[in-house]
Formats: sequence, structure tokens, C-alpha cells
Amino acid sequence: MFSSSRPTSRPWPTLPSPSRPPFKTHHPFILLLPKLSTSPSDPSPSSPSSSSSAAAAAGSVRRLVLTPEGRTKLNTLPDREFYSFPRFVTHVDDGFIAALTELYRERLRPGAHVLDLMSSWVSHLPPEVQCRYGRVVGHGLNAQELARNPRLDHFFVKDLNRDHHLQLHAQSFDAVLCAVSVQYLQSPEKVFAEVFRVLKPGGVFIVSFSNRLFYEKAISAWRDATDYSRVRLVMQYFQSVEGFTQPEVVKKLPVKADDDQTPLHGIMRLLGFSRSDPFYAVISYRNFKSTNEMQ
Ligand SMILES: C[S@@+](CC[C@H](N)C(=O)[O-])C[C@H]1O[C@@H](n2cnc3c(N)ncnc32)[C@H](O)[C@@H]1O
Repeated sequence: MFSSSRPTSRPWPTLPSPSRPPFKTHHPFILLLPKLSTSPSDPSPSSPSSSSSAAAAAGSVRRLVLTPEGRTKLNTLPDREFYSFPRFVTHVDDGFIAALTELYRERLRPGAHVLDLMSSWVSHLPPEVQCRYGRVVGHGLNAQELARNPRLDHFFVKDLNRDHHLQLHAQSFDAVLCAVSVQYLQSPEKVFAEVFRVLKPGGVFIVSFSNRLFYEKAISAWRDATDYSRVRLVMQYFQSVEGFTQPEVVKKLPVKADDDQTPLHGIMRLLGFSRSDPFYAVISYRNFKSTNEMQ
């Protein structure tokens, strides 16, 4: 199902577009560096035949990360039922959201077409660039939440555990975002392959998460894992798809309660609010990362 949050806006095209040749873009900010990727998927040095076979395989799932048991959930009711009523809450604290917004500020260029996957009534995009992105498309499971999201030009509702296919043009987005939701995907390898398909060459996929979750709806492989192994898991999701660059990890851990001796922190500790949410993001690019984004 596809819905538009703004009745006057154009419907987002859902028919396949003619695929563009890889590594070509007309955007002035992107420098073309076809073989910059350090992904294990990139054979190096590359012969014409190995690079053409790698190009042909790009976007395919080369191995499954999760076992059948690892994909199971405690609550086996359809996800759409679980998300059938809107939750106008934030799922992580202000520190996490500030870190995520700052990361988006750094990584999303003006004019970027953005897909906010597994979204809700908030997208955490920097407020000062309201009009500076291209089209922002949202996806999630609750239409009321998505309709209230002020950053979305369009949205669609789809249960990715039922059908992982995104009815979106190939190579149509500069950035795909997935905030605090990856733990609910039961076939993440297929969803990451779909994200690869809809990203333009050089486009970025940013997956962020903390240690909060709807326990009964998170997959078994995530539920009882440590933060460290969750980071490893998301890296493996990227590595399971041919053509994503070597994933980068950004983390911002909260100050330990014992290290902070300020009176305010003492009061917060007494009230049980001493720890804030750890911030993790795993980031990867389709085929290559452009030089203007390299630190
Ligand atoms: C914790 S909320 C995060 C929402 C939003 N990204 C944010 O940062 O506030 C988890 C989101 O995952 C989405 N979700 C959960 N299961 C899903 C599924 N099977 N298919 C598609 N989306 C799903 C829901 O739309 C829900 O809004």
C-alpha cells in the first residue's frame, strides 16, 4: 500500500526506472571513484571479467547471517497488529536523538532524496535543512504516525517481515535511514539487498540503534545479545549483500554514572535516571564512498 501524507503532492513513482550505469552521477558534489570500496565483495586487483561479474552480482544476498531460530520473535502475531495504534512517543532519549541528528547533518548532503525506513511521526533530520533535502519518503507500519511526520513528502505502509520488496525505483535515493528499528527485521539480508537496489551508487544507508527494544517483537538473535554483538550483527547484514562498502561504526556511549560527580547527576541517579541511551550507528555506502565525505 502506498499513501501520501500531503494530498497535493505528487505520488511517488512505483514503476521500475531504467537502470543507470553504475558509478555515474550528475551531482556536482560527488566525485567518481569506482574502486574505492574496501568491501570484501570487491575483488582487487580487478580484471574486466571479475569487475563485470561483481557488477552483475551487486545487490544480491551472498550468504544468510541469521539461523531460522535467530529470526524468531516471542510475539508471533502479525507486526501490523502490534503497531495498529499510534505511539506518539520518542523511543530513545534526547542525547541519542541529538547524536543521530548530528550524524545526519554530517552525512546527508543538501538536495538528497531520502528514504526513512521503519519510520514514525519523527525522522530526526536536522531542522535547519527543512527545505534543503530533495524528496523525503517515509515507510512504517502505522499510517497515523507517518501522516503526522512533518518531514515526509510521501509515505507508504508495509510489513517488511511479510514482503521485503520495496515498490520504489532502483537507484532513486541518495540516503536510506533506519532508526532504532533494525532489531524487528526477520529477513534483514533481503531488506538490506532491497535498500541496496533503491540506493544510487555512492548512496548511504545509516542504521542506528540503542539498547532499547520492544522485547517481544525483537528477533531472538538481537534480544539477548550484547551491544557489541548487535553492532557485529548489523555489520554482517551489510556484508551479506554484494556491493556495500566496508561498514563504519559510530558510537557514543553515555558518561558512566560514577564518573559524573555533579549535583544534578547525583539527583538524577537517586531518581533512577543516571544512565542515558548508548548511541550506535552502522553506516555503509552502495559501491563507494565519495571523497567529499571522507574524513
Ligand atoms: C521503535 S519504532 C522506531 C520508529 C522511528 N524510526 C523512530 O526513530 O522513532 C520501530 C518502528 O519499526 C517499524 N516496524 C516494526 N516492525 C516492522 C515490520 N515488520 N515492517 C515494517 N516496519 C516495521 C514500525 O513502523 C515502528 O515505527
